[in-house]
Amino acid sequence: MPGGVTVRVPAKVNVQLAVGGARADGFHDLANVFLAVGLYDEVTVTPADALRVTCEGPDADQVPLDRTNLAARAVEKLAARYGRRADVHIHIAKDIPVAGGMAGGSADGAGALVACDALWGTGASRDELLEICAELGSDVPFSLVGGAALGTGRGEKLRVLEVGGTFHWVFAVADGGLSTPAVYGEFDRLHAGVAVPEPVASGALLEALASGDALALAGAVSNDLQGAALSLRPSLESTLTAGVEGGALAAIVSGSGPTTAFLVSDGESAGKVVEALLASGVCRAARVAVGPVPGAVVL
Ligand code: C5P
Repeated sequence: MPGGVTVRVPAKVNVQLAVGGARADGFHDLANVFLAVGLYDEVTVTPADALRVTCEGPDADQVPLDRTNLAARAVEKLAARYGRRADVHIHIAKDIPVAGGMAGGSADGAGALVACDALWGTGASRDELLEICAELGSDVPFSLVGGAALGTGRGEKLRVLEVGGTFHWVFAVADGGLSTPAVYGEFDRLHAGVAVPEPVASGALLEALASGDALALAGAVSNDLQGAALSLRPSLESTLTAGVEGGALAAIVSGSGPTTAFLVSDGESAGKVVEALLASGVCRAARVAVGPVPGAVVL
């Protein structure tokens, strides 16, 4: 775009989401194994008279265009740090499901930050950008970094993971989103009075990622928020079942949901799972993607 900068940012799936008990600040300690997958939002920033946000895409009407949008907040934070006005037009071409548990909002935050950094030539270091990301939200640093990573703390402290191959996925997009705080709240309700163990990354899962072995990964994926997401949205159970019956190696709720993720052996198998999901009418749309893919990239 003339005079502007466009950044492409991927969605994520959590191949493991181990959740600890609620902390004093309301957040939960996590062992969160992120994998970036090839569904993308594109965020374009251009100089303007004032900060404004627009959005295009199938779910654009569900995206807030005010200062609650993480993209707007990212730009304001960067501008404040470098003593300049946040006068840009942010345009989001949205392809990541909205409120779907795939870090779509986080992707837009990381994208807008990287785009404005390039537009303004701030010279901010990667660590500085990651610090702003962590202030914006627990998943935002990973959207910047991409690939695969283990997130600890509330998910913002990242250790990059080596991945020995490409994994094939199908994502079933549900009708309507789920609120992340509501899902964590339901997790707390379901675990009231129970001692929740410290979250720990699974050795078997990290090995499966490192070796690129899809069958081993299928045996190791887990999501501690799945029970809470299913409790709030019981219909997701039939979506998970339909994908398994269609030949998926593993079926899991993505993050806080309601998107469900199906690990498959290859592209052909992905096509069969898509057919099975669509034929059983258990989702609004089915998308195919591979991971890992890189994080935020200036186009
Ligand atoms: O960090 P972020 O703003 O994306 O988190 C959204 C909400 O999800 C938090 O307000 C909190 O309710 C919940 N959350 C949590 N523990 C985490 C991450 C998020 O309880 N580690």
